[in-house]
Amino acid sequence: MTTGIILAAGKGTRMGTDTPKQFLPYRDRPLVCASLSVFNESPEIDDIVLVTSEEYIDYCRAEIVGRYAFSKVRTIVAGGKERYDSVWNALRACPGADYVLIHDSARPFVTEDIIRRAAEAAKVYGAAAVGMPSKDTVKIADDEDFAASTPQRSRVWTIQTPQAFSRPLLVSANEMLMKRGQMAGVTDDAMIVETSGLAKVKLVEGSYENVKITTPEDLKRLS
Ligand code: CTP
Ligand code: MG
Repeated sequence: MTTGIILAAGKGTRMGTDTPKQFLPYRDRPLVCASLSVFNESPEIDDIVLVTSEEYIDYCRAEIVGRYAFSKVRTIVAGGKERYDSVWNALRACPGADYVLIHDSARPFVTEDIIRRAAEAAKVYGAAAVGMPSKDTVKIADDEDFAASTPQRSRVWTIQTPQAFSRPLLVSANEMLMKRGQMAGVTDDAMIVETSGLAKVKLVEGSYENVKITTPEDLKRLS
């Protein structure tokens, strides 16, 4: 049993619109529909948990899941303050899942192939994140924006979603970090597993197109 978790509980502060970016029109439908539709069609995915903020739950039920008939959406749950709070609420809503694939609704260019690669790697390694080798040289900056170090470029990946995990593993890793007070600064789910030391996270190929829509320029450029 594999559950897709679609995260749509953010506020979209950097987009700067009143409506959160995941509900802005994108190719004639609210943006969140793009990822929901790929997950709904994917043979790897048995059901879907959609996470949104409290005030958008009714809207999502009627205007997203109902209107566009996303038949695999089993439940819609309220998200939390941080992304990891939203993920935690979703994990509690799918107790029977063996594997979970967590995906940002702000990444509309996910494909069935990417979902398959992530799901297959999670079944072999327990934890997987999709990403791509960096085309740019990356530098780590010090406090005053001087270059402190330069990691070898061939080892640098930029990370995307979906990220796929054995659910029991991800639940244990979350519980461990919450107990130790190590959640602050967590920006993705792979980081939770890495910090816990419970498993190694396999990096698998996403695509250079699988970008996140963050700012108004992104939306304009990619529409
Ligand atoms: N997300 C979420 N719950 C949160 C924060 C983020 O479900 N508390 C989701 C967003 O809806 C988005 C994804 O996580 O699909 C990636 O987050 P990001 O791109 O940072 O979106 P926002 O947090 O909404 O945007 P911003 O950081 O600009 O406010
Ligand atoms: Mg954010």
